Amino acid sequence: MARIRIVPTVVELRALLADRRRAGSTVALVPTMGALHEGHLELVRRARELADVVVVSIFVNPLQFGPNEDFDRYPRALDADVAALETVGADLVFAPSVAEMYPDGPSQTRVAAGPIAALYEGASRPGHFDGMLTVVSKLFHIVQPDIACFGQKDAQQVYLVQRMVRDLDLPLGIEVVPTVREVDGLAMSSRNRYLSDEERVAALALSESLRAADRASADGLAEVLAEADAAFGAHDVQPDYLVVVDPATFLPVGDDATGEAVVLVAARVGATRLIDNARITLG
Ligand code: PAF
Repeated sequence: MARIRIVPTVVELRALLADRRRAGSTVALVPTMGALHEGHLELVRRARELADVVVVSIFVNPLQFGPNEDFDRYPRALDADVAALETVGADLVFAPSVAEMYPDGPSQTRVAAGPIAALYEGASRPGHFDGMLTVVSKLFHIVQPDIACFGQKDAQQVYLVQRMVRDLDLPLGIEVVPTVREVDGLAMSSRNRYLSDEERVAALALSESLRAADRASADGLAEVLAEADAAFGAHDVQPDYLVVVDPATFLPVGDDATGEAVVLVAARVGATRLIDNARITLG
């Protein structure tokens, strides 16, 4: 197996990719902030199936963290990440410094994520999605991938990335990869490592609320919300939001809605903010 290459600069990455493209290779990008888990590795496996060259970016993007969020303590584990990426056949790890990505200081030009970005995650994390789309857009310009892989776990992020690609006619495909879960249902997340043993049990409130929502889906929205809320109550966890949205618009569905919908949940468990989501069919 060819050894993975760690690339810290934009110039070097562009040169390597230009060589591969001249040889006719297609390129997939998996954007990450590192602290990789099985969910990320699944994105890389999918990228491996879709393109000849797989680039994984590892960059904890300061632009998408608020002043009181966990940017400083966000887990950084480059050596372990690279070792994990070797096992799934990534080719290049783009691991720039903050100064490499933002040589003139924080970007003055930003992608405005629009009204959906003010809802749900955005309501608790003002500016988060503008910062996320700005770095994703920079990564798309740096790597110029044919396809980029994102996890369904961050459903609002995926919606906004797909919307940016359509709105700005960006020339790439977006591949959405299903959420990877622990055996007991907890969605994998880099932030799970913050949880104490007790919080790890309480964190099941999120996935259990989604299962309860699914079980109640044939009975309509009110029942879905009541059952999902009860699952939070059983763990003594207060949801930050629990909402059922239309997958096409990402706006809350009406009381009489039927058909495909997405349940979004978020909660703080101890000091750790967790999110999860699931598709349901409202009856
Ligand atoms: O999902 C993430 O890890 C980040 O939001 C992303 C897409 C890598 C942008 O920083």
